[in-house]
Amino acid sequence: MCGIVGYIGKKEKKKLILEGLGELEYRGYDSAGIAVMKDGKIDAFKATGKLSNLKEKTKNFTSNGEGIAIGHTRWATHGKPTEINAHPHFGKHSYIVHNGIIENYREIKEMLTKKGVVFLSQTDTEVVVYLFEHNLENSKNAFEAFEKTVISLKGAYAILLITTIEPNSIFFAKNAAPLIIGKNSDEVFFGSSDAPLIGHVKEVCYLEDGQYGILDKNEIKLYLNAKKVLPIFKDLPQDRSFAQKEGFRFFMEKEIYEQSSVLGETLMGRIKDNEISLEEIDEHLLDGINAVKICACGTSYHAGLTAGYLFERFAKIRTDVVIASEFRYKDPLLTKDTLFIVISQSGETADTLEALKIAKNAGLKTLAICNVDNSSIVRLADTTILTRAGIEKGVASTKAFATQVATLWLLSIFIAQKRKTADKKSLKLEIDTLLKIPTSLHVDNAVHEKIKRLSKRYLHGHGFFFIGRDIFYPLALEGALKLKEISYLHAEGYPAGEMKHGPIALVDSKLFTVALLPKTMLYDKTKSNIEELSARDATILVISPEQFELADDFIKTKNSSHAMNEFFEMMIILQLLALEIAVRLGNDVDMPRNLAKSVTVE
Ligand code: F6R
Repeated sequence: MCGIVGYIGKKEKKKLILEGLGELEYRGYDSAGIAVMKDGKIDAFKATGKLSNLKEKTKNFTSNGEGIAIGHTRWATHGKPTEINAHPHFGKHSYIVHNGIIENYREIKEMLTKKGVVFLSQTDTEVVVYLFEHNLENSKNAFEAFEKTVISLKGAYAILLITTIEPNSIFFAKNAAPLIIGKNSDEVFFGSSDAPLIGHVKEVCYLEDGQYGILDKNEIKLYLNAKKVLPIFKDLPQDRSFAQKEGFRFFMEKEIYEQSSVLGETLMGRIKDNEISLEEIDEHLLDGINAVKICACGTSYHAGLTAGYLFERFAKIRTDVVIASEFRYKDPLLTKDTLFIVISQSGETADTLEALKIAKNAGLKTLAICNVDNSSIVRLADTTILTRAGIEKGVASTKAFATQVATLWLLSIFIAQKRKTADKKSLKLEIDTLLKIPTSLHVDNAVHEKIKRLSKRYLHGHGFFFIGRDIFYPLALEGALKLKEISYLHAEGYPAGEMKHGPIALVDSKLFTVALLPKTMLYDKTKSNIEELSARDATILVISPEQFELADDFIKTKNSSHAMNEFFEMMIILQLLALEIAVRLGNDVDMPRNLAKSVTVE
């Protein structure tokens, strides 16, 4: 995801900014840029690819002495990862870097285009710098123009703007994307996370949503709702790896906790006027399509299986879900009325990529659900919907899965809209629920504490069954996969109704069963399946909004009227359970044995 660094002071600015951006590299990016203002003149450089390319471009540029600098690493959302789309974006006198997504950029762009502005890039960010310069024309000063600009923006943003009109200052604004100010007696730093500020400042101010202002070396003017507020500075811990993990013990834990905000990014700009709007999708994509085939591996396959239920139930389209490595060699029968969907976090998984090639060669329309823009799968597929999870460092996938499921849910509603297979009322219910999902993904600290305590009872025994029905079956598979990946304990996911057809033979008191018992879906049926296991003395952990008297352990979830709310809440519980069991076993949670983050071999 994008990164921001800013500086006012005397030090060599290019070096400082490039080092700061280096600290943010782990978040993932596909281009980078820097702008330095000195004596009222701005020099800017941008490069695609790694920071080393930007370093090479700026190798003869020096920037010692009093001045201002801003820098950015971009992770493409609007427009391809080209040099033109890289930040900083610029107008006549001003340069801007931005993280987040400006939801109303099209309206602003249209208004400015009518006034004669010609845009160079495909980004949402460029409109902000031109809007600022447009506002300058009828404002008392640059600050008033900036304030007007910020007030007109909708969406998520962390913004730094510099302008030759105000040559000693940086304008800044923050909403739903992090931005931090660090200050020494004669210099100021900005960062989109702690990491670039460590070692440079001891105290930082974490800006709050809606805050904006202007700052020079001597003074920070901070505003919220047009009223001046006092910046609050706190001690900055000086441990870098702690900063990258933002206080969490493991990247996996951090990624579980950030699922709520990341899902906000997945949805951003994709729900408009009570409709799903996927601008990436050509309006004719679904013409002549009567079926969907989904291909993926591992966790992505589980997201695909979940989509299988959603697509058939809601979009009323025949859907077949296949593991990519199986698909490749089964001489699949492919017909051109099938939309071929591949799902991949990395976009580089060899089996999924090969499956995509087979489908393309057979002349099928192809769609990728992917987290990494410009990856091999994205480049090959006809169309891509990016999941926008940001870089995932933990080898065991968590937030990538959540964003894949959310994207596929969006897509199922989109297909239902297009094929007119759902009435207005049920479409509205889906969209209203979808909009609230980021909030329902907040990790409940009390639940996490309970799982920490419970985990000590699940370290021994001869295996785990994870069971669920309907969409909770792929979730059970995912819960079992998470556990085996990081705890190295044997775990299997099963449809709850399948136990009696064989697996129940394994059941005894040393067989742990994790049962997903949602209230909104096949409650009584699943309950009977759990009772069958209880009768055979299995040790049972039930996850449900309803107390279950036969459970040995019980984790209560919220009452909800929509299955997807229950799905995401239970997903978090399963991820935390795997994490806490692995922690107790002393395993390397972020880098489990034998596993790689991107599987580029067959
Ligand atoms: C599990 C996990 C793997 C991947 C699988 C596919 O935690 O991460 O099962 O889901 O290797 O990878 P992508 O999604 O990159 O194609």
